[in-house]
Amino acid sequence: MRLAGKKAVVTGAGGAMGKVFSEVLAREGCDVAGLDVQGLDLFGDAVRATGRAALELKADITDLEATQAAIGQAVEAWGGVDILVNNAGGGMVRKFHEMTADEWRRMVDVNLTSVFNVTRAVVPSMLERGGGRIVNIASIAALRGGRLVRHATGYAAAKAGVVGLTKALAIEYATDGITVNCIAPGAQQTPGRDRDTPEGREALLAQIPTKTLGRPEDLAESIVHFCLPSAAYLTGVILPQDGGHGI
Ligand SMILES: NC(=O)c1ccc[n+]([C@@H]2O[C@H](COP(=O)([O-])OP(=O)(O)OC[C@H]3O[C@@H](n4cnc5c(N)ncnc54)[C@H](O)[C@@H]3O)[C@@H](O)[C@H]2O)c1
Repeated sequence: MRLAGKKAVVTGAGGAMGKVFSEVLAREGCDVAGLDVQGLDLFGDAVRATGRAALELKADITDLEATQAAIGQAVEAWGGVDILVNNAGGGMVRKFHEMTADEWRRMVDVNLTSVFNVTRAVVPSMLERGGGRIVNIASIAALRGGRLVRHATGYAAAKAGVVGLTKALAIEYATDGITVNCIAPGAQQTPGRDRDTPEGREALLAQIPTKTLGRPEDLAESIVHFCLPSAAYLTGVILPQDGGHGI
């Protein structure tokens, strides 16, 4: 229980990785508020099974007002927020020259503006508590363009924005006890990958030096590490966790 008593917010907690992150944080002693537009049942069950409290917050985090209302519920219930994991996001495969302005805006809204909205809603509480931990989930696409998925320019650009935002926030709040770090995962063993054809999977693994997919449970351990008291001097770090795919 390395994070006993901490209050955490995990976005995209209804999804594959967010559920795992929430469960691992709860096992480390956090109460967890999951923020998603959908599917928070498994999240709530997983957190409560550890004996910790769960809060299901349904909101579209591309909307600042809705996000502030949802975070307000967590602050009211728990007195504040210590840990924020900006995990919600998602990609789209579209040839760049066929992409519409709406599709571009959607990628930026879902993957970057959402991080602004949730962080904007949470930081005042962290400042009031004298510190906090923010961990953003970007992607190998942010650092290496189409290495993981071709034709994902909007996604890659928005996730690169998350990398820049991480560094700027780390500097802005360095003397306020708030650390801001980012993980750039490579391909993960999530249900989304079950749609890979055998040839597609083979081609993907051929590019990855370890010849394996990543495990969300291992990403969760990195998140926990960034949240430990001993990580107070770790800020602005962009951690590629990708089996060497980005080398
Ligand atoms: N799965 C991978 O291989 C992989 C690799 C690198 C990075 N990532 C990143 O990791 C994160 C989690 O990925 P995942 O595989 O768990 O995806 P997922 O699709 O299973 O989960 C994402 C969750 O975010 C939620 N979400 C999306 N838009 C939202 C909005 N506007 N408001 C509230 N919630 C919203 C979705 O409802 C979903 O539950 C994403 O940011 C993704 O880009 C994933």
